[in-house]
Parts: sequence; structure tokens; C-alpha cells
Amino acid sequence: MKPVIVSGIQPSGELHIGNYLGMLRQAVELQNSGHYTCIYSIVDYHAMTGLLPAKERAAQTLDLAIDMLAAGIDPKKSILFVQSHVPEHTNLAWILGTITSMGDLQRMTAYKEKVAEGKTPNVGLFTYPVLMAADILLYKAEAVPVGDDQRQHIELAREIVRKFNSAFGKTFKEPRTITAKAERIMSLDNPEKKMSKSIPSGCLFLHDSADEMRKKVMSATTDSFSGIGYDPEKRPGISNLVLIYSEFTGLTPQEVVKKYADIGYADFKRELAEVIINALAPLQKERRALLKKKSEILRALQAGAKKAQKIATQTMEEVRAKVGLV
Ligand code: TYM
Repeated sequence: MKPVIVSGIQPSGELHIGNYLGMLRQAVELQNSGHYTCIYSIVDYHAMTGLLPAKERAAQTLDLAIDMLAAGIDPKKSILFVQSHVPEHTNLAWILGTITSMGDLQRMTAYKEKVAEGKTPNVGLFTYPVLMAADILLYKAEAVPVGDDQRQHIELAREIVRKFNSAFGKTFKEPRTITAKAERIMSLDNPEKKMSKSIPSGCLFLHDSADEMRKKVMSATTDSFSGIGYDPEKRPGISNLVLIYSEFTGLTPQEVVKKYADIGYADFKRELAEVIINALAPLQKERRALLKKKSEILRALQAGAKKAQKIATQTMEEVRAKVGLV
């Protein structure tokens, strides 16, 4: 088997350009390189750490599948499936949980941020990174394409590998993190914070209408310096916009700054909005076509789960023997 790439996305609302530029586009490139076995899951168990009516959850799962397909994930080239269709994920998570320290989980920034937002944490939210480690280790992934906010979780997965191997003998390898240049797209209305579904006002969603995109880009927070510049530390707002422009055009941030050297923020934003609208148009078109093929998509997900489970079962057999489950 080729080296394995694993990643996952939560079905917890519409995807934004942070998800797309930070992870999804990379996942498609890795798939199309032909060098890897790519395993991508819609992590519905993870999304359960937030309460949602059943109907909405089901709709979001299918909706995410459509978005992933529209972005270029191809079930003929990648294994695309829904996490809860492969129960080995939670089986392995239990075992990994028994070698994960409370202290390590308490240090997880994503968890601490959720608690700081005032959420009453449930046990699932706390042990979330253990399930994520299981998602990765079940397929003995070589590397995991993610945005910057998931780095710490993958570090933890590596720690879990070391603990497991030293307790039970070499079984897993430590997965590498692969990040894109756009590993951290910032919120449009608060560039000190990453773009996140939990603050929708700062998100550019993949399916926003052209008018919505123009409106959001035009009102994006910048600064009072004069001229376009790229300095994420000192000028996070405009640098974020330059980075987005750069990601959608293939120019480097420095080339973007040069191109717009003599232009004001408003004109730059106007052009940026058109760049984004044009870049996302094919995805939006593809999504509209896919919306008519829901039963075909469900079948593809089921077929994906079968393929994933074949690998997952083998790993679980090995793990059960190693830890002494009869
Ligand atoms: P999730 O669903 O929050 O996000 C999906 C992917 O999008 C990336 N991302 C960003 N990248 C750049 N800028 C941003 N503003 C931005 N916001 C989100 C995320 O880093 C992620 O790669 N825990 C994961 C899901 C997961 C997973 C896994 C990932 C579960 N099991 C196993 C990899 C391997 C998450 O919540 O992603």
C-alpha cells in the first residue's frame, strides 16, 4: 500500500475559506498526486460534542460530503466515508484513552478555548483529541493535512504512539503534520482570531452569494497604515486579505503587495472580492449539480466506509492481540 494520508472535517456547519485553503484544497492536491492512499472522513462523532437536533445533524453530514466532493475529493481516488460508519474508530479511541494522561488533555488549547467561551464542557469535548488520534492511527497514517489549529492534537497523537509502542511493542508510526501556506486564515472582522464557524460574522463561506462576499470583504477590518502591506504580526487584517488574494491567484504575498502598491484599501478589497467569487464559482456550480445526486452520494459514502473498515479491522486485530484482549 502507498503511504497513507488521513484527515477529517467536522460536519458542523458550512465550510469557510479557512477550511478550504487551510486543509481541503491540500487534501485534494495530495489525492491527485497519486502518491498516497488518501483517507478522508466526515467526523460526525466529533461534531456530536456540540448538541444539535437529529435532523440538522443528518443534513450537515450529507452537506459536508457534497462540499468535499464539490471541492474535488474523488471517491474513486480517495476513501471518503462517515466516521460513525466505521465503529473501529471508537473501539480504538477507548484503548488509546487508557494510555492518555488527563494532564495532556487539559493542556489542549482547543479545549481550553471552548471552555473559555463559556461552554460547559462535556466528556466528549475533553476526550476529543483521543478520538482524533484513533482516526489517524487506525490507518497508520504517514501524514495528516490540517490547519494550524490542529497541530497540537497531532502532537498528542504522536505522544500516544510513543506511549503505545513502548507499552505494547512497535505498532504505530508517528504521523507528520502537513500544513498549507494558509494554515491560519484569520477572521475578517477580527483578524486577531482565526476564521471559525463559531464566529460566523468573520467567515467567508464557500457558498456565500457574490453579493454577500463583496459585502463581507469590503467591511473586513484593516488598519490605519497607508498602503497595502504584508506583515502578519503588525498588520494582521490587511496581511490576511493579501494572503487570501495570494492563495486564490498563485501570486506570492510580496507580488500582491507590489501589484497593489499604489492603490487604496477599498480598491484592493473590490478586486479581492472578485478574485474570490471567480475562484469559488466552479465549486458552487458543482455543488448545485451534486445536490441532485444525494442517493448516489450516500452510496459512495457507504462504499467508502467498507474500504476504510477493511483497513481498520486489520489494525484492530493487531491492537487487540498486542494489548491482550481475547
Ligand atoms: P475542523 O472541522 O474544525 O476543520 C477542518 C479543517 O479546516 C482547518 N481550518 C483552518 N485552516 C486554516 N485557517 C482557518 N481559519 C481554519 N479553520 C479550520 C482545520 O485545521 C482542519 O484541518 N479536529 C478536526 C477534525 C478531525 C481530524 C481528524 C483532522 C477529526 N479527526 C483526524 C485530521 C485527522 C477539526 O475539528 O477540524
